[in-house]
Amino acid sequence: MLKGKTIVIGVSGGIAVYKVCDVVSRLKKLNATVHVIMTEAATEFVAPLTFQSLSQQPVVVDMFEKVEKWDIEHIALAKAADIFLVAPATANIIGKMANGIADDMLSTTVMATKAPVLVAPAMNTNMYDNPIVQKNIKSLKEFGYQFIEPESGRLACGDMGKGKLADVDTIIQAINRELIKDQPMKGLKVLITAGPTREPLDPVRYLTNHSSGKMGYAIAEAAVLKGAEVTLISGPVTLREPTGLKDFVQIQTAEEMFSIVKENLSEQDIIIKSAAVADYRPRYYRDNKIKKSDEDLELQLNRNPDILKWIGMHKEDHQIIVGFAAETNDVMENGIKKLKAKQTDLIVINDITKAGAGFKSDTNKVTLVHKDGNEKSYPLMPKKDLAHIILENIIDIRKDG
Ligand code: PMT
Repeated sequence: MLKGKTIVIGVSGGIAVYKVCDVVSRLKKLNATVHVIMTEAATEFVAPLTFQSLSQQPVVVDMFEKVEKWDIEHIALAKAADIFLVAPATANIIGKMANGIADDMLSTTVMATKAPVLVAPAMNTNMYDNPIVQKNIKSLKEFGYQFIEPESGRLACGDMGKGKLADVDTIIQAINRELIKDQPMKGLKVLITAGPTREPLDPVRYLTNHSSGKMGYAIAEAAVLKGAEVTLISGPVTLREPTGLKDFVQIQTAEEMFSIVKENLSEQDIIIKSAAVADYRPRYYRDNKIKKSDEDLELQLNRNPDILKWIGMHKEDHQIIVGFAAETNDVMENGIKKLKAKQTDLIVINDITKAGAGFKSDTNKVTLVHKDGNEKSYPLMPKKDLAHIILENIIDIRKDG
């Protein structure tokens, strides 16, 4: 959803400037165009060159500096913005914005923009609580400016209280939410499977895998944000149920997952199978705990249904099927084999031997391969960001018919 979007970030001077470097880098990975405007004070904390390297665009500080690319710089940037983010926003810039003072590049540009403006304050807690600052925030809110609330905690000055810049995740989610107000998946029914399955052996033991559900839950949250009606079928995980789901079904075994998928399949437009389903289950379930003896114990396993393969064979023409492949060797070759064997429209291939990719981590590193052979590899990024990229690929598949 950030592809083709322009985010202008106004950076004012505070210790939290360094966190905004991460915001810029995350937005770039999501394919947004990012322009940074800094106040003079901000350049005392981080050099403009850092933002220039991260955004791959010139950084503007001085109002009268000529940047060839734009006609009248502040107006050009003000018009180019799909979203204008001010982060960190000091009491000073908030005061200027609330009172119509435009005396540098950032304050003039933000005043000239018609894009939605998101403001992420960061300052000392006493400053933040000061009634003058609160009055300015209230007045900006009344004008339609949106605030990304600062967090409470230990501040750089040593004081405790509210005033820390919101974390990078929260800022990225706020941008995402703003950009998808037009809800590109509105009216679409999406079924997502997430987490592991648990195949019981006796009342105290089971076979399972390391899936935490983070990838699937991130996709479910992103799809809800995009307006989809989401059914999430989840194996046992410790994550909280995402808000805004149409249905949330918790299962334990692959067979239970299979039966819920079959029940729900016909009404879905999109099916995304990010769950790590056990391929085998113990042949016999023992009602009583298996007692140990001095002998070795041999387990016999039965093949579980391949749910994705079954979906591929039974899908209707309009349905889009997305599979995942968790691979440790011959990653691309094995992933593409699964795309074909399971007749998916798209496969998300993760090399689970790579640091930060695959099971349990908050990040993932994947290659997306489409049915037509088109493939793209993405850098390591938070699963929450990757979720949006996967959904954008699905939206493109729908557009291309
Ligand atoms: O949950 P996290 O900790 O965030 O980790 C994310 C993840 C690594 C689990 C996820 O990114 C992922 O790769 N999920 C698929 C894992 C997997 O089981 O891959 P596979 O290569 O074994 O299966 C291929 C596809 O067939 C998958 O879409 C799987 O859901 C499906 N499958 C597999 C076996 C089976 N019996 N039925 C299935 O439907």
